[in-house]
Amino acid sequence: MLASKRILLIIGGGIAAFKSLDLIRRLRERGASVTPVLTQAGEEFVTPLSVSALAGDKLYRDLFDLTDEAEMGHIELSRSADLIVVAPATADLMAKMAQGLANDLASTLLLATDTPVLAAPSMNVRMWDHPATQRNMTTLQGDGIRVIGPNEGDMACGEYGPGRMAEPMEIVAAIEAALADGPLKGKRVLVTSGPTHEPIDPVRYIANRSSGSQGTAIARALAALGAEVVFVSGPADVDPPGGVEVIRVETAQQMLEAVQAGLPADAAVFAAAVADWRVASASDSKMKKTKGGLPKLEFAENPDILATVAQMKKGRPGLVVGFAAETDDVIENATAKRKRKGCDWIVANDVSAETGIMGGAENDVTLITDEGAEDWPRMSKSQVASKLAARIADELA
Ligand code: CTP
Repeated sequence: MLASKRILLIIGGGIAAFKSLDLIRRLRERGASVTPVLTQAGEEFVTPLSVSALAGDKLYRDLFDLTDEAEMGHIELSRSADLIVVAPATADLMAKMAQGLANDLASTLLLATDTPVLAAPSMNVRMWDHPATQRNMTTLQGDGIRVIGPNEGDMACGEYGPGRMAEPMEIVAAIEAALADGPLKGKRVLVTSGPTHEPIDPVRYIANRSSGSQGTAIARALAALGAEVVFVSGPADVDPPGGVEVIRVETAQQMLEAVQAGLPADAAVFAAAVADWRVASASDSKMKKTKGGLPKLEFAENPDILATVAQMKKGRPGLVVGFAAETDDVIENATAKRKRKGCDWIVANDVSAETGIMGGAENDVTLITDEGAEDWPRMSKSQVASKLAARIADELA
């Protein structure tokens, strides 16, 4: 899939730069050519020699290098690739990109280019969480820059949290998705998936039986057609697909915030089984058994994410697709739900226990649009996903 693709790889100055050496190998194994650019800070983490040897290409380091300018000027360098990958994208590089600074070779290339850019952020968890970095992320995504990661986990600095650069194979999948040619190329689609967990206290929560398989299959199918996919997932049983931007959340409230941060999008598919209610005042400490007393849980209604987005006055995605999980009068209920929530399409399914759909591998759906109800035969969830992705592509064409 990457045969003869040209990747310009900008390696920033972070501990994760060592993973970029492996990334170069993986890309070349797949037939891509890699032209590396190493920032000055990057040179503190990996040597120019190892980068250049693995890439099998000249390494670019300096904005004011006469030889480089004579061979290939920085403007041309920035435009001759199919994709620019920034890995690791440090907080500093992201800030420069968001501000449009051009004070070294990497930032100048990024400002001078009209080539698509994929960034793999990598930094300390506090730096990642800092409002300035989050602001920069929003700006970069608004500018059309694709982002992969960061992942959550142990960090080189001894802390734990989001900030670890995505693994080389995850970056490869994101590169393949960014370069995928398909009818959804250039379109951004947001997908929600999985259940939500609503805490009762620090150890207990309210959940539902959604496995996340249908939403995951939809995100995968959309990416396969070339879409840039933002995948907002609750705690699902299945792993998220490769090549998509994954935002993990737990509660409905967090899912709403992630969805709002993930917009604008050309289309949005709401496949998540969002809990309708949360415990109004979840306890901060574990609730203890008391003699003879049963806990009294008070509930509050969760925001309706689908309805909120479908009824946006400004910035509403061009196509909003909801799901309707029903156990009775599926078509009637789903048709009413489509109207009530204000979405364009609704994918209705019968989730009664005997259908085996919730948590199962197959789905039996009816697509409800302006034109009426269209019954699809029972098929695997990945077939439903491919069919739905193809319909979305037709609609956005
Ligand atoms: N949904 C949502 N936010 C909620 C509840 C549901 O975004 N708080 C979305 C789901 O992702 C799905 C659609 O709304 O796309 C319908 O979900 P469903 O559970 O079938 O409907 P409910 O809103 O729960 O309505 P009801 O309780 O009447 O079945």
